Amino acid sequence: DLPSLKTEMAPYFKVGAAIEPDSIEAPADSSLIAYQFSSLTAENKMKPGTIGKAGELQYDFRAADEIVAFAQAHGIAVRGHTLVWHYKNGNWTEAPDWFFAGDPHDPGYRTQVAARLTRYVTDVVTHFRGKIYAWDVVNEVISDDPHTVYREDSPWYRALGKDYIAIAFRAAHAADPAAKLYINEYSTDDDGKRARLLSVVRELRAQGVPIDGVGHQMHISIDWPPISHIKQAFDDVAALGLENQVTELDVSFYNDPGSCWSNHGTCRPDYGRHVPNDVLRAQALRYRALFDLFKQEPSIKAVTFWGYSDKHTWLSSTPVSRTNQPLLFNASLQPKAAFWTIVDPTYRP
Ligand code: G3I
Repeated sequence: DLPSLKTEMAPYFKVGAAIEPDSIEAPADSSLIAYQFSSLTAENKMKPGTIGKAGELQYDFRAADEIVAFAQAHGIAVRGHTLVWHYKNGNWTEAPDWFFAGDPHDPGYRTQVAARLTRYVTDVVTHFRGKIYAWDVVNEVISDDPHTVYREDSPWYRALGKDYIAIAFRAAHAADPAAKLYINEYSTDDDGKRARLLSVVRELRAQGVPIDGVGHQMHISIDWPPISHIKQAFDDVAALGLENQVTELDVSFYNDPGSCWSNHGTCRPDYGRHVPNDVLRAQALRYRALFDLFKQEPSIKAVTFWGYSDKHTWLSSTPVSRTNQPLLFNASLQPKAAFWTIVDPTYRP
């Protein structure tokens, strides 16, 4: 019968998927998830925009607890995503305004915001203590602009400067000393961004901040980035004695945030209902190359897909609405060529 990713990859690393509660409420979906994965991440329900949406000290853990209960019932580990993030899109924020209430010009403002952050991280990590093996303590705190190290358009940076990062890590460690603490980032394959990230990691470690690993989101495409760039990212982190995790893997058909970057490979149209076989074959071969690399990197502790099937992927609506099928199972939950190339070295897509 069907191979299991978690069984095939058990000698190397955990294999995970990001899920929403409705996935585990559906019989076919939940049995695929339980059979294939040894780690789960809440795609959204463990973020501050959900847990902290109602207001200060008014936590909503219901959806997250449902996911954790499912994982525990099936002997699956849980990654915590995420304690601190800047994301805001229209009326949806992952950094609720109550954290930043008050007058920034008041002398006590920074202390007040730092106290709210510490309290939130302490309460959330305490709630899940013993049930989360790794936390994305902070997400996307590094600037994409080569001239600044930190993402300065973050309300956290505006309120606390770079100190919010150390504050969050220290509070998380105090609340659950057994949990591995990660800094999670995208585009870590980019030499400049990775240099900025690792300069921050080195500074945190020099300050004695408890940080265990780097999460590489890896929202990549069939054509970009090259395997050698990805390998360099893992090696640079491992050289610091830190763990690596792939935290949000998907392989998009497109290279771009909407238009096409000619220097990053093929510029593909929106395929609509019929994706050409040669594109699915290229995606399958790309996944084989990725997992061949991952299996050679002992510092990689887990590889998590940002979704368990093409039935639901953020990429079909972000940055634009178009046909994207970035994962290993199709919308009918059937294994794609990309699944077989990973679990069967003899399979020819
Ligand atoms: O559930 C609310 C709904 O009640 C409300 O009416 C609606 C109004 O916009 O928003 C709904 O929340 C949406 C949420 O997903 C839950 O579905 C937000 O709009 C939407 O912005 C949010 O998108 C998520 C995004 O992170 C922001 O949190 C995506 O599903 C999720 O895939 C994406 O994941 C991120 C990782 O956390 C970090 N790395 C990048 C990755 C992709 O952006």
